[in-house]
Amino acid sequence: MTKLRIAALVSGSGSNLQSILDAIRDGSLNAEIVQVIASRPGIAAEQRAASYQLPYCVVSRREHGGDTASMGRALEAILQPLAVDLILLCGYLSFLDEAFIRRYEGRIMNIHPSLLPAFGGKGAYGAKVHQAVLDYGAKISGCTVMFVDAGEDTGPIILQKAVPVCEGDTVETLASRVMEQEQLAYPEAVRLFAEHRLRMEGRTVRVLPAAERC
Ligand code: GRF
Repeated sequence: MTKLRIAALVSGSGSNLQSILDAIRDGSLNAEIVQVIASRPGIAAEQRAASYQLPYCVVSRREHGGDTASMGRALEAILQPLAVDLILLCGYLSFLDEAFIRRYEGRIMNIHPSLLPAFGGKGAYGAKVHQAVLDYGAKISGCTVMFVDAGEDTGPIILQKAVPVCEGDTVETLASRVMEQEQLAYPEAVRLFAEHRLRMEGRTVRVLPAAERC
């Protein structure tokens, strides 16, 4: 069976990228990371990519004067010759151009550290998400894997995993409980994609049982 060709887009430590690398290494995901692209120089994900000898480059928003269309074209110039099957946003903090998203519609995934549509959208990233959950007094949080659309955290949901919010939780304890589930959810979603078991029906993503593969 041919390996799924993945490009990972990163802006920070690349902890979600690590979960994909772990799944590839333990044989539970038939895929390869063919390119890692950072949105800025000097981030921790660079070391992670280097330690796995992954092709790595930077397409920085600053270099493109904040022009997302120009950034989209630069990303496309890198990805198109690589015949990438799937693009994974792994803590990627830049906006993607609409034309770029359209070109790869249904082939860009993101993971968000809350149960969307709660605690998502503009400015909702990192510790801010968990702080908002705690401030609101929510009793359940979790993570969401979605296909990326032109909105902010509005794309069709592939899967979600829930965790309890516990008495005395801090941003750190909640983030770490959610991250444990993120490490399971992202490889699981990619595996379903690789097995052609995700079917879009409107904005609903149906997960086909293994026997019903198409
Ligand atoms: C995770 O919380 C994920 O939900 C969000 O980015 C965080 C991981 O960032 N998309 P990083 O991979 O550690 O930089």
